[in-house]
Amino acid sequence: MEVSKIDYPQFFDLVSRRYSCRGYDSAPVSREMLMAVAETARLAQSACNRQPWMFLVIDTPELREAVARCYGREWAHEAQAFIVALGNSSEAWVRPCDGHNSMYVDVAIACENMCLAAASLGLGCCWIGNFDVEALCRELDIPACWSPVGILSLGYPKPEQAAPEKKRKNVDDVVKWGKF
Ligand SMILES: Cc1cc2nc3c(=O)[nH]c(=O)nc-3n(C[C@H](O)[C@H](O)[C@H](O)COP(=O)(O)O)c2cc1C
Repeated sequence: MEVSKIDYPQFFDLVSRRYSCRGYDSAPVSREMLMAVAETARLAQSACNRQPWMFLVIDTPELREAVARCYGREWAHEAQAFIVALGNSSEAWVRPCDGHNSMYVDVAIACENMCLAAASLGLGCCWIGNFDVEALCRELDIPACWSPVGILSLGYPKPEQAAPEKKRKNVDDVVKWGKF
């Protein structure tokens, strides 16, 4: 296997540096930056290349407030933008042997691309899953066939917002060679 000795350390550094940012500066995030983040979602892999997704970029004050209310935590009101990741199960690949629908996996991959892209651009980002689905669909006119999978909050981290220490299981507990 060919391993690029230049890219892996940089990639590892990016993955290590990404964290869930829950405190944002009031500096706005340009649409160019937001598009740079969203573009990495579009390029994500998906089962059978179905791309069963849509991304709503929310950066106007009124809609930002509406999205923050659907989550209800104070810090979310500091976010300068949100990207709401939607998935459409009827567009996604379905595994024939057991009927598993790939939509959530596909959209999650796109979301992680965006989290990493945000980190690479110096933006803070937090994946929000604990939102009021019904309220969000109502506020953003999301049609019934589209499910909100996640909301990404975005903004420049507050200067005092330090990246927390990573709390993770030990590698030996989660990676096994061979059989379970
Ligand atoms: C599917 C998913 C849903 C999440 N939902 C929330 C959430 O609703 N609120 C929140 O503050 N963080 C949420 N997070 C962030 C996780 O809490 C965070 O990724 C985890 O604690 C590890 O911390 P780190 O991202 O800083 O490495 C979510 C993350 C994922 C992947």
